[in-house]
Amino acid sequence: MSLSLTHSAFCRYIHLDELEAVRVKHPLLSATILLQGAQLIEFTPQNQENWLWLSAQAEYKKGASVRGGIPICWPWFGAAKRNPPSVLNDIKPQAQDIAHGIARTQLWQLSHLQEHVNGLELTFSLPPKDKQHTLWCGTITPKLNISMGKNHLQVALINHNTGEQDASISQALHTYLPTQDIRQTQIYGLENSLYVDALNHWLCFKQQGAVTFRAETDRIYRNALPHMRLHTPKYAMHIQSTGSNSTVIWNPWVKKSQRLSQFAHTDYQKMLCIETANVLDDHLKLAPKQTHTLMLRLTQQ
Ligand code: BG6
Repeated sequence: MSLSLTHSAFCRYIHLDELEAVRVKHPLLSATILLQGAQLIEFTPQNQENWLWLSAQAEYKKGASVRGGIPICWPWFGAAKRNPPSVLNDIKPQAQDIAHGIARTQLWQLSHLQEHVNGLELTFSLPPKDKQHTLWCGTITPKLNISMGKNHLQVALINHNTGEQDASISQALHTYLPTQDIRQTQIYGLENSLYVDALNHWLCFKQQGAVTFRAETDRIYRNALPHMRLHTPKYAMHIQSTGSNSTVIWNPWVKKSQRLSQFAHTDYQKMLCIETANVLDDHLKLAPKQTHTLMLRLTQQ
């Protein structure tokens, strides 16, 4: 059961079509977090616009991830078969075709809330479920901590191995960000990093200069650094991460846009994903009782 919000000063539960969400209205900011997937779909500091991109065609249906905000890819990222054997071992055969794991369509619970004058902090947990065990048999349990203030958004995915053996997962905070023009958008901080290009036979290349967008882009940067800067025509954002050496950069461009759910054909011009991840060699391996935190912090400049 999720926490009661009867005594909360700033939060209440609302319904968006089939889904329940926590709606935050604080003097300094507003936000919306879906209980399905613990998915933050809106974070709007006072007098600003939503820092996250959310599709105008978003559908709020049980069992389908909403296109936008920060979906959580967990306990595997991307196609199951692209994961290392230690991650793949815990994925049941009937789940092998599910992209980005199971957490984004599961019902999480709001388990903790702390409110103060400068902002608030919410924690969501994913209760162990029978259905989950028919799809995945790992022993790692996640919690998501979201901290929000006047000029920061911090999201921490905390994993704990409750089992008696080593356990492995891959994961990502799949952040959708808005831009006014993808062709005038740059990401700094990945210069000279090596990346695996999912659109070019998964070969490895070296990034020359800032990341820019002129075609479909689907890359996993390895040895990603903890600081990146996103420049768009309208705003600049500082992206800080800890507990991650891999960053996924994604834009579907023209053709793939036509195949995506909850996505207009021209939406690729106005969004990009910068995904704070633990994938490929950087997947997570936890010893019994070990805990790891994957953290993302956004601030605008
Ligand atoms: C990205 C992947 O993380 O997510 C892309 O690198 C994928 O290959 C994209 O297309 C969106 O995935 P989905 O399952 O939300 O449509």
